[in-house]
Amino acid sequence: MLRDSFGRVATDLRVSLTDKCNLRCTYCMPPEGLDWLPNAQLLTADEIVRLVTIGVEQLGVTEVRYTGGEPLLRRELPDIVGRTAALDPKPQVSLTTNGIGLARLAGTLVEAGLDRVNVSLDTLDRDTFKRLAHRDRLEDVIAGLSAAHDVGLRPVKVNTVLMRDVNDHEAVPLLRYCLERGYELRFIEQMPLDAQHGWSREGMVTADEILALLSVSFDLTPDDLEERGSAPAERFLVDGGPARVGVIGSVTRPFCAACDRVRLTADGQIRNCLFATEESDLKTPLRDGASDEELAARWIAAVSRKRAGHGIDDPSFLQPSRPMSAIGG
Ligand code: GTP
Ligand code: 5AD
Ligand code: SF4
Repeated sequence: MLRDSFGRVATDLRVSLTDKCNLRCTYCMPPEGLDWLPNAQLLTADEIVRLVTIGVEQLGVTEVRYTGGEPLLRRELPDIVGRTAALDPKPQVSLTTNGIGLARLAGTLVEAGLDRVNVSLDTLDRDTFKRLAHRDRLEDVIAGLSAAHDVGLRPVKVNTVLMRDVNDHEAVPLLRYCLERGYELRFIEQMPLDAQHGWSREGMVTADEILALLSVSFDLTPDDLEERGSAPAERFLVDGGPARVGVIGSVTRPFCAACDRVRLTADGQIRNCLFATEESDLKTPLRDGASDEELAARWIAAVSRKRAGHGIDDPSFLQPSRPMSAIGG
């Protein structure tokens, strides 16, 4: 089991398959992109599946989420999903993606065993999309979302990072759009994880502000029926339900105390927190011939050192040296 010194148990493994992306969202990376990891440093599909297998079969991992960068850029994704879904006990297999390419791949991924998908969508306006993501790909994202729904993935979750004076005027239209199509929308507070270190508290649209924006047009009531558990989103029934909207207030309403996550970076490092200042290398021992038991022991030790919380409010807070795209969203 992956237990930390505060008694939290990590069961949700988030695996970054690549640090590369075909968008350049301003809250993540600069328009020119970043120095991508050299291919030789990326875990191969076999190495990923070996580590995921250890997590699931020996360490109590029950959910495996593939992220990036953009995980659909990894050609072996259907193979990796298929081999993950074939593990015993079978974990939940999910994907967090920007949606580009999902229109073509959604069916293949479901056949391979994908259970759930979360798609980022920050705007419905083509010009705002171009300004925000520095690419003209809104249509591809929309097509990806509807393909995911058409092939029967449920729930299809939509992630929206609201930014002041960029897309905060779209909160209500975005929610209407998702309600009409049966997608579950979650609004996310922007976190200090961008490569440019451009985050500011003033630019962040807070959970309170998000709820105020939505309350102008919708009646929101806390969804008490479903246990929140370790979910990052606070959920609200919209106009009495059953439709819901989520708010992920990572900064102002942190859920660190219930966190059940552990991350594996694309280059084989275990990170016990998004905001961890240290990583534990599994790639080197793996390539040097370590046994499953040795790798599991390193992994257990890495999680045991997890800190209580992200510490964004501490005066001594330092943004992680790696941006979100390299950590895994
Ligand atoms: P579900 O199981 O579908 O609820 O997944 P999720 O919401 O955890 O995953 P997703 O990849 O869609 O992440 C959505 C947002 O949750 C991200 O943009 C982050 O803002 C936030 N988030 C995910 N993991 C962490 C974490 O470990 N710590 C913090 N503080 N925020 C996180
Ligand atoms: N703050 C909050 N969320 C972020 N994401 C990417 N960067 C940030 C950030 N700085 C979101 C993406 C994606 C999810 C994995 O993380 O929108 O939906
Ligand atoms: Fe790509 Fe996701 Fe970063 Fe946007 S947030 S640039 S989609 S990795």
